[in-house]
Amino acid sequence: MSQLNKFKRYTITSALPYANGPLHIGHLAGAYLPADIFVRYLRLKKQDVVYICGSDEHGAAITIKAKKENTTPQAIIDKYHAQIKQSFAEFGISFDIYHRTSSPIHHDLSKEFFLNLYEKGEFVEKYSEQYFDEDFQQFLADRYIIGTCPNCSNPNAYGDQCENCGTSLNPTDLINPVSTLSGKPPVLKPTKHWYLPLDKYQPWLEKWIDEKEGEWKVNVFGQCKSWLKSGLQPRSMTRDLDWGIDVPLEEAKGKKLYVWMDAPIGYISATKQWAEDHNKDWKLYWKKQEKEEDNTCLIHFIGKDNIVFHCIIFPAILRAHGEYVLPQNVPANEFLNLEGDKLSTSRNHAVWLHEYLEEFPGKQDELRYVLTSILPETSDSEFTWKDYQARVNNELVAILGNFVNRVMILMHKFFDGKIESPSGKVVLNEPAIDYELGRLYEDLEQNIEAFRFRQALQTVMDMARLGNKYLTEKEPWKTIKTNPEDARETLHNCLVLIGKLAACMQPFLPSTAQKTLDMVNWQGGAIGLEQEISFKSGHQLNPAALLFEKVEDETIAEQIAKLESKKQTAAPALQLPAAKENINYESFATMDIRIGTILAAEKVAKTKKLLKLTIDTGLDKRTVVSGIAEHYEPEAIIGKRVSILANLEPREIKGIVSQGMILMAEDSAGKLTFVSPNDDLHNGSVVR
Ligand code: 2FM
Ligand code: ZN
Repeated sequence: MSQLNKFKRYTITSALPYANGPLHIGHLAGAYLPADIFVRYLRLKKQDVVYICGSDEHGAAITIKAKKENTTPQAIIDKYHAQIKQSFAEFGISFDIYHRTSSPIHHDLSKEFFLNLYEKGEFVEKYSEQYFDEDFQQFLADRYIIGTCPNCSNPNAYGDQCENCGTSLNPTDLINPVSTLSGKPPVLKPTKHWYLPLDKYQPWLEKWIDEKEGEWKVNVFGQCKSWLKSGLQPRSMTRDLDWGIDVPLEEAKGKKLYVWMDAPIGYISATKQWAEDHNKDWKLYWKKQEKEEDNTCLIHFIGKDNIVFHCIIFPAILRAHGEYVLPQNVPANEFLNLEGDKLSTSRNHAVWLHEYLEEFPGKQDELRYVLTSILPETSDSEFTWKDYQARVNNELVAILGNFVNRVMILMHKFFDGKIESPSGKVVLNEPAIDYELGRLYEDLEQNIEAFRFRQALQTVMDMARLGNKYLTEKEPWKTIKTNPEDARETLHNCLVLIGKLAACMQPFLPSTAQKTLDMVNWQGGAIGLEQEISFKSGHQLNPAALLFEKVEDETIAEQIAKLESKKQTAAPALQLPAAKENINYESFATMDIRIGTILAAEKVAKTKKLLKLTIDTGLDKRTVVSGIAEHYEPEAIIGKRVSILANLEPREIKGIVSQGMILMAEDSAGKLTFVSPNDDLHNGSVVR
């Protein structure tokens, strides 16, 4: 049963991408495709919904890009805003508005927000020592400082993160820091900033987050709990930057609002702009209403790197303001990998959307389909070109396209594409199919409303499988000779099924749904999800056309070769340890290896290498101490699926009893990676 009517209206946001480069498939699979499916579904269910996004046009990443390309930040944001907006539009991401944070309406609202909190005395003003470039007479954003990583000795680590080992850093952690502006070592100078005292909000946040247990995805909930557990610190809402929104205080000349006080407020300013353009009241979509039941349902779609931002920092800002609703859910996705490696802009290891659009014209739904099938909903997932080919050929072509095509061809061959019925109208006249369709539709509803889009897509494909099976069993190509009326009825039933299929396809494959409706010459206007499908006697179908084309081996080989040729860093030569002696099967079978999920993770105090993990092994929830702290940040691995040796004798490590061992794979460079299942197995599944 649909639960949508619990809310009066819906405000759906997708993370604002930085306008400093093109988008790749990882972006699409993270925060945009899932949101678009959800929003299209809400609209089909006749809900009052606004879907908001736009370009994030501030921050050091943009000024750095401008320097690299020897141009201005304005030129950078203009170029990439247009390109990103175009890519989204071509993939059918159906924002109600795609706005820009450089717009005056956004600058004004962000300043208003800051002043509201400032006047309430919500900020703590503090001086801190920050790096300053004396030649350029300016404070340096974290990204403007490079130096040696204290963790892995990479000489080109940034002030906020080492891209080699992934450790997040403070600029003062760097060894031999250098300003990228002057190339000289920066000096430390005191500077004043305005901090949001998250520590003060901690008790309220704990209570609020606890209420989300079971409702929010485990990866999201777990990451929040882990942050709360390590204790929240005040966060500076301002920065010494040269590109962004001015801090609206006399004494803050030259300072800008930091991303926390800027990007998410972009959701609100974009809604204001949309409301102005469409004669709506934006407050209904953001502010608390007199009666709680009149409030909007706010949902943020993001990638996992923005979880803390949207589940802790932004809710704290909204609450400090007081007039705004808080998010109902934040269904963050994990990361998508590509051909066995992380997607990486700097290494150019990506499938860029604008390139796909050029190289695969008209094949947006194919990519939507493949990405939806592998969305990183509960753990990281992987895109490979071979899998793309297999899914298009074996599923879209062989199942969905094949069903629609067979029915259309047979209708034209036997009945000249004309529907005719003595009762004047054709409806579904096959109770078993009707029942199955009803059941699949219920699954579809449930899965979409629980943000399980991969599963939801499968229910649509199951409708096509149902049609193929029915057609094969009824064999109208045979009965046309012995019982033509039966053949006619079979094909009519299939056409009704195609109508239902097209309706349910809409959130996932919008242009294929439209093509299908055009082919059956659908005259009923927009087709609803729950609408009874019928055709009038005398209705003429349009000619049959293929919905999908097979992807050839050469196409895939070209794409793989393209990725290979772009790889800028060669993998280190493999140095494998020597093979071990043979063992018998019985020795192996004594090991009880299970699939589990990391529920919580924290550093073990006074150690460099150890993390204390709480694992759901399916058998129990237990503590395991693991030597992976140099490879993974605790908050990044919550929700991760792992393999655990469950019957290893418990032993005490640094005063903690560790029950079992997490299996890790080690490459020749000593990098550890989890041994995780490819499919969504339940906890406790046995590895053997
Ligand atoms: O992390 C990012 O990509 C930033 N542009 C912020 C995105 S979230 C925001 F929109 F609130
Ligand atoms: Zn490093």
